[in-house]
Formats: sequence, structure tokens, C-alpha cells
Amino acid sequence: MHKVRKAVFPVGGLGTRFLPATKTVPKEMLTVVDKPVIQYVVDEARAAGIEHLIFVTGRSKAVIEDYFDAQVELYTTLAARGKKEELEHLKDIQPHPGTTSFTRQQQPLGLGHAVWCARELVGEEPFALLLPDMLMQAKKGCLSEMVELYGKTGGNIVSVQECRPEEARQYGLIGKGCSIAHGFRITTMVEKPQKGKIPSNLYINGRYILQAGIFKILEQQECDSDNEIQLTDAMLKLSAIEPFYGFHFRGKTFDCGSKTGFIKANVAFALARDDLRDQVILTLNDLLKDAIRKRASYMDTEG
Ligand code: G1P
Repeated sequence: MHKVRKAVFPVGGLGTRFLPATKTVPKEMLTVVDKPVIQYVVDEARAAGIEHLIFVTGRSKAVIEDYFDAQVELYTTLAARGKKEELEHLKDIQPHPGTTSFTRQQQPLGLGHAVWCARELVGEEPFALLLPDMLMQAKKGCLSEMVELYGKTGGNIVSVQECRPEEARQYGLIGKGCSIAHGFRITTMVEKPQKGKIPSNLYINGRYILQAGIFKILEQQECDSDNEIQLTDAMLKLSAIEPFYGFHFRGKTFDCGSKTGFIKANVAFALARDDLRDQVILTLNDLLKDAIRKRASYMDTEG
């Protein structure tokens, strides 16, 4: 069985929900506490043993490539100012030379198309796919757990979690079959299901291990009515010819593609930090008390 060595990060999206911030700053570079969103996802991939990072970018995303490059002038300045800790940290998170690749998705044709754009860089081996909008919080990284499961099952794996019925329309949903190792067989997959066509309450939360066979399917797949090539549709086709498993992630997932998800992630990651927790609890407490009081008095005057 091939080791999962490469990870693909689709970072070409426009991020229109975060305008005007995303007019000049890619949404993947927005910060959760003090790190860009993309850094969290890359950290998760590296913790899972990923050796090569493949970014599928787009126009106006060059800053992501700069971010993962060495910043020699900054390093020199930090060294001259005796900022040893900051310097060490920057060097630590900098990928080794030759372990990052960048390619552009030249047309906004959806997630399936973005993944297909990475085919030459991935080659014939299995790869991880991490959607940077989705940040995870858990003792062990979601991808690390999936790689462990992959060691037992091989094949293709998609991570899932429960969602509320009203959220089902935003995601890809799966049908759950019999259990295998710490995962289960997938019976069906449907992207953004209509009411009445929801196979379960388990949604795809943005982490995948896929075999290179997906590229051939994506190559032949037509655009849907939104002019997008859906990855979920291609995975469903792949599941008819290759083993496909689900992994039930038990940690927390924050959908940073939405404003509330992004705010929640900021609060949750700040609360997880020893250097910030106490201060953040006090601040939130004050803000909440104030907001609840204002809301109550507004309700009184209205009602
Ligand atoms: C994509 C996938 C969907 C998945 C979601 C997770 O949708 O197509 O299956 O559930 O990411 O964020 P998008 O967010 O691109 O609409």
C-alpha cells in the first residue's frame, strides 16, 4: 500500500462572503487568533505525515506562495533584535525546500475542477485533500486519524460529522453502511441534497484521502447546473469501482467559510491557548452580559 505523502489544498476561491477583506487578502490568509487559516490546515497535514504540499491557487492568491517562502530580510531583522523565539517559530513552520507546489485553477469551475488541476503534481499515488475553510480542533488531528484508518483499510476515505437538518443543504452528505476497523462503508454520497433526499445526518467535513483514480473520473465529468464540477459526484462514481470508507470525526469542526463559523473558530482557538484563555473568558463575559442586557431592554420596548 502506498503511503499518503502528498496533500492538496484548494485555495483558489474568491471568498466573496468576506468582502471587502478578501478584496486584497485571500480568505485563506485571514487570521484565526494570530495564524492564517491556511497555517492551521497545513499544520494538520504535516502532523499526519504529509511530506509535500500542493496548493491549487487562483488569480490574486500569490501572497499564499510568499507566505510559505523564506523571508530572509525578516529573519535578519528578528535576529538583530534578539527575537529568538519568533525566529525559531517562523523557521519551524517554513516548509523544506522543494516540498511545496503551486498550480492555478484558471476557471472557477468548482471543487472537483480544483482537485483535477492537481493531477500532474499528485501523479499516480494516493493523496490527502484538505479544504482550508474547515478548521478542526481535537486531541489528534482529523487527518492523522484518517491516515491511521487508511493503514488498515486502504482505498478512499472521507471524513464526516453530524449536522443539523437545516445545515444539510450546505454540504455533501453520505449514507452509512457497515462498520470496518474504525470506519464504515459508504453507501451513497450526495452534494447539497434537496429536502427529502438527505441520506443521513452525516456531512463531509472537508478532509479526504483519495486514490489517483479520481482524476480520470473528474476529467470526464460534466459541469452541473451551477457550472461546477462536483467532487462529491466524482467520488460517488469512484465508490462504484473502488473501496470507499467513511471516518466519523469526533472533534470540533469550524466552517470558516461562514462569518459565524469564523468568529466561533477565533473564540474557540483563543480559549484553547494558555496565554489567552483567562483574559478572553473575562472579555467575553463582559461583552455577553452587555449584549444580553441590551437585547432584553430592546425586547421590552418592542413587546
Ligand atoms: C464542499 C464540498 C462539500 C463539503 C463542503 C465542506 O462544498 O463540495 O461536499 O461538505 O465543502 O465544507 P463547498 O463548501 O465548496 O460548497
